[in-house]
Amino acid sequence: TDRYCVFGNPIAHSKSPFIHTAFARETQQRLDYTTWLAPVGGFAEAWKAFTAEGGRGANVTVPFKGDAFALCDTLSKRAQRAEAVNTLILGGNGKVYGDTTDGVGLVRDLHYHGVPLTGKRILLLGAGGAVRGVIEPLLAEKPRELVIANRTLAKAERLAHDFSDLGTLSAAGFNDVTGAFDVVINGTSASLAGELPPLPAGIFSTNAWAYDMMYAAEPTVFSAWAAAQGAQAIDGLGMLVEQAAESFFLWRNVRPDTASVRKKLRKRL
Ligand code: ATR
Repeated sequence: TDRYCVFGNPIAHSKSPFIHTAFARETQQRLDYTTWLAPVGGFAEAWKAFTAEGGRGANVTVPFKGDAFALCDTLSKRAQRAEAVNTLILGGNGKVYGDTTDGVGLVRDLHYHGVPLTGKRILLLGAGGAVRGVIEPLLAEKPRELVIANRTLAKAERLAHDFSDLGTLSAAGFNDVTGAFDVVINGTSASLAGELPPLPAGIFSTNAWAYDMMYAAEPTVFSAWAAAQGAQAIDGLGMLVEQAAESFFLWRNVRPDTASVRKKLRKRL
C-alpha cells in the first residue's frame, strides 16, 4: 500500500485524509493517507522521516508551503510562479518534484459552480500566499481585467508586477477599488478573525459572484456581506476538494469525481 500524508502545524483537524481516502475508495486505488504534524523549522527532517518510512508523496499546508518549495529538486512552472508547493512527489530516482494545485483547485471549483471568468472583471482581495497561488490560473481564463486589492498596497503592487506578463492586472487599496466586478474573490485571512475587508459599496455588478477561499458550517462574514449586496456567494469547500483531486491525479494518474466528496464533507462541517 502506497503511503501519502499531509504535513502541517496544526494538522489534527485537516480534512485531507477524509478526502483522499474517499477518492481512493471511489477510484479503487490502494493507498494510505494520514496527517503528519511537523515542528515549525523542522519540515525537511519530517519529509525525510516520512520517505524513510516508505512515503511516496504528500500534501503540504500551513505553515510549510515555502519550506516545501525550498526543498524540491524540480518544480512545476505554476509552483515557481506561486513560490509555494502543496504537493510533493518522490521520484524513483529519489528526487523530489513539487507542484501547487491550489490555484487550479479554485478555478475548477468556479467552473463547477458555473461562474464565468473569460472576459469578466475579477477582484481579488488579499496579497498573501493564498492569493499569489491563484493568480496564474485565474489569468489563464482570460478575464478582461484582474484587480488585486490589499490592506497593504505595496504587497498588491508587487504581485501585480510579478504577473504583469500574463494579463491585464493592477493593484489597489481597499478604499480605492472602483467600478463593478463580475467576480470578487476573498483571499485574505480576515474571515478567520470574523472580519471583513473594508470595501466600498457597489463593487458587485448585476449577477455577480462572490467567492470566499475560507469555508465554515455557517456562511463566512464575507459570504454573508456579499449575499446582502445581491451577489451569489460560494465558500471555499469545493476549492479544498478540487485541489485535493488535482494532487491525487498527480500521484495516481486517475482523476476522481469530486461531487460525492463535496456532499459528504459539507455534511460533516
Ligand atoms: P495566506 O498564506 O493565507 O495568504 P498571509 O500571507 O499571511 O496568509 O496573508 C494574509 C492576507 O490577509 C494578507 O493579504 C493580509 O493583508 P496585509 O498584507 O495587509 O497584511 C490579509 N488580512 C489579514 N487580516 C486582515 C484583515 N483583518 N482585514 C483585511 N485583510 C487582512
